[in-house]
Amino acid sequence: MRFLKFNFLYLFLLSLLYNKLFALEENDELVEATDFKVANGKARTPFPDWLKRITGLYQWPGLDPPYIPLDFIDLSKIPDFGPYSLGFCANVPREACSFDCHGCMGHDEIFTCRKLSQTFDDGPTPATLRLLDSLDHETTFFNLGVNIVEHPDIYHRIQDDGHLIGSHTWSHRYLPALSNKEIIAQIEWGIWAMNATGHHIPKWWRPPYGGIDNRVRHITRLFGLQAVVWNHDTLDWKFASGDPSVSLEEILGRVHDWNRDKTGLILEHDSKETTVDIALRVKDIIGEDQLTVAECAGGNDYIREYD
Ligand SMILES: *[C@@H]1O[C@H](CO)[C@@H](O)[C@H](O)[C@H]1NC(C)=O
Repeated sequence: MRFLKFNFLYLFLLSLLYNKLFALEENDELVEATDFKVANGKARTPFPDWLKRITGLYQWPGLDPPYIPLDFIDLSKIPDFGPYSLGFCANVPREACSFDCHGCMGHDEIFTCRKLSQTFDDGPTPATLRLLDSLDHETTFFNLGVNIVEHPDIYHRIQDDGHLIGSHTWSHRYLPALSNKEIIAQIEWGIWAMNATGHHIPKWWRPPYGGIDNRVRHITRLFGLQAVVWNHDTLDWKFASGDPSVSLEEILGRVHDWNRDKTGLILEHDSKETTVDIALRVKDIIGEDQLTVAECAGGNDYIREYD
């Protein structure tokens, strides 16, 4: 399981489709990049005083947030390779230990679980609510900063229901394609969105598109973050895009297969009504005897929680 095989073309197409499918609208609603604002003024989490002090800003940024230097980060120590684009793995050295290119993982990364468990990326969205209504067990959400500050009420519901929340970065960029400063910005703003909205600092994070290598790893470990990938992909996102090559029967058939040995970590999304529909069917198959990622790994839920 250490070396999973990926189809690069498929990853590339995924990157092209992603913004169309998953609520990240990068369009003319966005104000100019120099005027860091969330698209269409949608942010509803107040921009707190402590964040004004740290950043010198007074409002939430857009999809490409500004890099804010932090004293525990020494840029000169970050491994020097990349950047490279999603799906362009040919020149990525093995020493990079890329998960999406080579299935390579760090010693501290989580990819499976002793009980077969669902995990949900890309929320919170209005579709998340129907999922929460149906869950009687605690599960794991990897939330996007831009969606957190847009839907603080839904974020609070996830918290109140006792689920584990990890970071999925600020705006779902493929991190290996970014500069060191841009990667840091994606991570820090993702954390700040959680802290400003939910008063806690995440311990767990999931790289968008599974895009993690030793450069990304070096940076995220400085924040005390542990990465979570997966060993089962429902392809719910592909089904939701209307791709006729993925049928619901096929998806549920795969889940029945995974359910035979009852172990593993399943990648799903709470970004659309369609993917939530699938999540409910998957839950009906494997039942409520599932674990959060922290329970799978025997670790803390958060690095720190504030009152
Ligand atoms: C988290 O929020 C608290 C206030 O609730 C603040 O004092 C602290 O500096 C913040 N820390 C980070 C890392 O965001």
